[in-house]
Amino acid sequence: MTRVMHNAALDADSESNGAGGEASYGRLATGGLDTTHGAILYLEDISVVFDGFRALNNLSLDIGVGELRCIIGPNGAGKTTMMDVITGKTRPTAGSVFFGQTIDLTRLNEAQIADAGIGRKFQRPTVFEQHTVFENLELAMKANKRVRPTLFARLTGAQRDRIAETLELLRLKGEYRRPAGLLSHGQKQWLEIGMLLMQEPQLLLLDEPVAGMTDAETERTGELLNELRGKHSLVVVEHDMDFVNQIAQGGKVTVLCEGSVLAEGTMEQVQSDQRVIEVYLGR
Ligand SMILES: Nc1ncnc2c1ncn2[C@@H]1O[C@H](COP(=O)(O)OP(=O)(O)OP(=O)(O)O)[C@@H](O)[C@H]1O
Ligand SMILES: [Mg+2]
Repeated sequence: MTRVMHNAALDADSESNGAGGEASYGRLATGGLDTTHGAILYLEDISVVFDGFRALNNLSLDIGVGELRCIIGPNGAGKTTMMDVITGKTRPTAGSVFFGQTIDLTRLNEAQIADAGIGRKFQRPTVFEQHTVFENLELAMKANKRVRPTLFARLTGAQRDRIAETLELLRLKGEYRRPAGLLSHGQKQWLEIGMLLMQEPQLLLLDEPVAGMTDAETERTGELLNELRGKHSLVVVEHDMDFVNQIAQGGKVTVLCEGSVLAEGTMEQVQSDQRVIEVYLGR
């Protein structure tokens, strides 16, 4: 079992020693990725066929660097399957997926895709319930390939600062000593988002992040994602239209239906699109 150091710096609004040069929330995380054409992810003519059924049907989609893209659409539209393709869980029957200009994701396995900088949040929270909130973030930080050599080392001041900064962002600073198992469902979801952030992903995929949350937790999650906008590239799948409204903020919303893009535009544009109303919003 990994030994987890406890943290003293948090109570005293931690000192910074300037060491380490970890990512901060002040700049866009793109790592060494080649994003010269402005997009971080390209799906081109993706099809996924399960036993003759086309879950994705010539799906093409680009996600811009630093963009927060909302994806909506009816049950069975292929939203989760699209995330499965991006993360290597499902191989497309046809088509290509590029991360930046040069990384062909269809040639990588799930672990390699995660290491390349794509983080994915599944619907159910998967935190280490017996460990404290702080320890969960610490373990996630140390699972980052680039800092793995320090797995058994004490945290540096810069690393503690980064955890403190993340706790602040997650509004979990007051909970950092609590076992994660005692958090509310919403708090666990935030913690898991924080654990993904500790790995400094360039692209973060969130599948129905507010499902099962209270209204207050949902709104708080919207604030959290709005704070991440422009600092990470995000793809958010959701059915909760109030929430989508809160985070779309004039950005692009993509409507999937029967495995391809039915409409794309601002929330206002897709909401007034007759085809979208027919297949989804008018239900
Ligand atoms: N492994 C699989 N084998 C067979 N069919 C599958 C598989 N995975 C998904 N499908 C089918 O593909 C279609 C798309 O499913 P997907 O889960 O991607 O939809 P979704 O848009 O995420 O829907 P929801 O909003 O309900 O989550 C569905 O008809 C589903 O039953
Ligand atoms: Mg789904």
